[in-house]
Order: sequence, then C-alpha cells, then structure tokens
Amino acid sequence: MMWPNIEAMSEVIIDPDIRVAQTLPSEFYTEEFHFTEQMEHMSRSIQFVGHSSEFTSDMTPVPHLESVLKQPLLRTNLESDKHLLANVCTHRGMILCHEEKNGKSIRCTYHGRTFQKNGKMKNMPGFEDVENYPTESDDLPSLNLMHWHGFEFTSFDPSLELESILQPIEERLGWWLKDLNLKHDATRDRKWEINANWILYVDNYLEGFHIPFVHPELNEALAKDGYSTECYDHAVLQIGMANKDDVCFNIPDDAIDAGKRVAAYYWWIYPNMMMNIYPWGVSMNIIVPTSVNTTEILFKSYVQNPELLNVGAGALLDKVELQDQYVVEGCMRGLQSQLYHRGRYSATHEKGVHHFHMKLTR
Ligand code: FES
Ligand SMILES: [Fe+2]
Repeated sequence: MMWPNIEAMSEVIIDPDIRVAQTLPSEFYTEEFHFTEQMEHMSRSIQFVGHSSEFTSDMTPVPHLESVLKQPLLRTNLESDKHLLANVCTHRGMILCHEEKNGKSIRCTYHGRTFQKNGKMKNMPGFEDVENYPTESDDLPSLNLMHWHGFEFTSFDPSLELESILQPIEERLGWWLKDLNLKHDATRDRKWEINANWILYVDNYLEGFHIPFVHPELNEALAKDGYSTECYDHAVLQIGMANKDDVCFNIPDDAIDAGKRVAAYYWWIYPNMMMNIYPWGVSMNIIVPTSVNTTEILFKSYVQNPELLNVGAGALLDKVELQDQYVVEGCMRGLQSQLYHRGRYSATHEKGVHHFHMKLTR
C-alpha cells in the first residue's frame, strides 16, 4: 500500500507573503480536475439570484443559476412571500416553467400536475388509485432565499451567513444603503460568452494595475492617485477616485470615506460576483463558468439616478468590458503554453488577486 505523501499534501500553493509568493499555477485554469473541484465548491458558496425589482411576474426561471448549481430554479411570488423552488416536476422530471409568467399555480405541461407557488403539490389527474400519495416528496424542493437591501441570494450550504459575508459593504456604505431605491433596467443587461476560464476573469477584475495599459478611456476618467484595494474574508474592495470635475458620490461627514471624491466602489464577493457601485446605481457582474475554458459573463444594471448614467467612470461599461475580455482571452491562450507555469505578484497592485488565489487553494 502507498501512503500519501504528507509533505506534498500540506504544501502551500500560494505563499501568504505576497512579496515571495508565486501566482496560481496554470493547471488551475486549464485542467478538468481542478475545474470540477472549483464548481463543487462554488455550488456551496453564496450565489446571486437577482433583485426584487426584476421579479415582477409570479414565476421567473433563473437560468444563470442552472450552470452553477446544476439545478433549474424558479423564483416565485406568493403574495408577499418569495420562494426559490426546483423548476423540475416531481412526477417524471419535466421542466415546469420555461419563461417568466403569471398564474395562480405552477402547472406541468407534460401530464398536468399542479403546484402552489410555495412548492406544495396541489393535484394530479390520473393518480386516484395511487397508494401512499401524495407525500412530501411530491412537493417541489426549495432553496433558502436570502434578502439583503432588495438583492436576493441563495446557496446549497444553509449554514452560510449572508449578513456576515456582506458586513464590510454594510459598514462602508451604510449611508448609501439607507436610501437605496434601485430599479432593474433590462435594456442595459448584457451577456457575453468568452473563451477563457472563469478564474482569469476574476483575476483581471481584482486589480487596477492594468487600467493604464488596457483602458485608456477609463484611465482618463479616474484620478491618477488614490486607487486602493482592501481585502476582507469573503470580499475585496477596490475604490476608484473621480477626476477633478467628474461625477462622484456625495459622502456624509461621518462615513469612512468622508471628504473623498469616490467615482466607484468595486466590490468582489467570493467567488463569482461583482457589485460595482456608481453614483447612478449598481452594475452586478455574474461570472458563470460553462466549461474549463469558457465562461458566460452577465451584467445587470440596477438604476437609482438615471441622469448620472452617461457621465464619469460608470459610463464606459461596454467599452471597458470588451477591453478586459481581450486580455482575459489572451491569457487563456498563454496559460496553455508548455513554456509558462506561473509568475509573481506586484506587492503593491495585486493584493486582491493574491487574496483570491489563497482562498481558492486553501
Ligand atoms: S412530468 Fe410533470 S406531470 Fe408528468
Ligand atoms: Fe479591466
């Protein structure tokens, strides 16, 4: 019998000291085995469902969660109660709801089983002689739907505490959250498919180091100094400062950032969510891994001050996105090279990336 090599097992992949650390080895971006492990882990992390303002219909399927959780889900409103149900009929597994709609109950189009909007089975034709029926297993299973200032999240791990994960945002932006009145603007939603592993997209997001090289227009909109990165347990915050005459937040005197001309708060929430907060409102980026070398990127906009949409750092979203995708796809090609394995971090500019890699390999 072979004993596992204890030394190899306890090997630290990312040194906690950024000054000596090497970056994430290329196999984490390219190997099926690592990808499967990452997906497993992702399904037990916190996942973004949407914002209450976009669930105006009684039943709304949530397709982006199907790739991450491998589970078709249906977000329902039953008066003031909101539910996140399996979108799979408990009879023979048909998808229940293909598109957003209104209705008194959820009705399967295959053999007509119906459910209440809280998942409880109502009736089923042709089941009169079936014994020990119905039982709880005929009801639709549901996932925990967690609410935070209108945003909704879920997870396969019921022990996750949304409040403590998002606590740093609460502390930093309590003044902004207090008067929040966001509305989903579907005309600004975007969806891209890119040829790159999902980690590369997150890595790129977590540093502003590349801004002067990759985003000349954004670089103009942000002040040359003051860009900062702060790491938290489950999040990283990057702050971009506004140029002299550009739009910025009106921050109250008792807030942490009082006196600063903040153009944007870029929050990454582990592992695949980004909440970008601009004076106009919030741009949520959801990173949906579709295979080891392909990723879907979803942008959703929640608007509060429409008159500020086309000014400052927050006005350049589409342009900046395409510039980012160009470098992320370029790295994906490069990482498959036999001649590259891993690199080093800038101790001043890549703290966020280092933090993410440590978390990912812990
Ligand atoms: S699969 Fe839904 S009623 Fe048969
Ligand atoms: Fe970028």
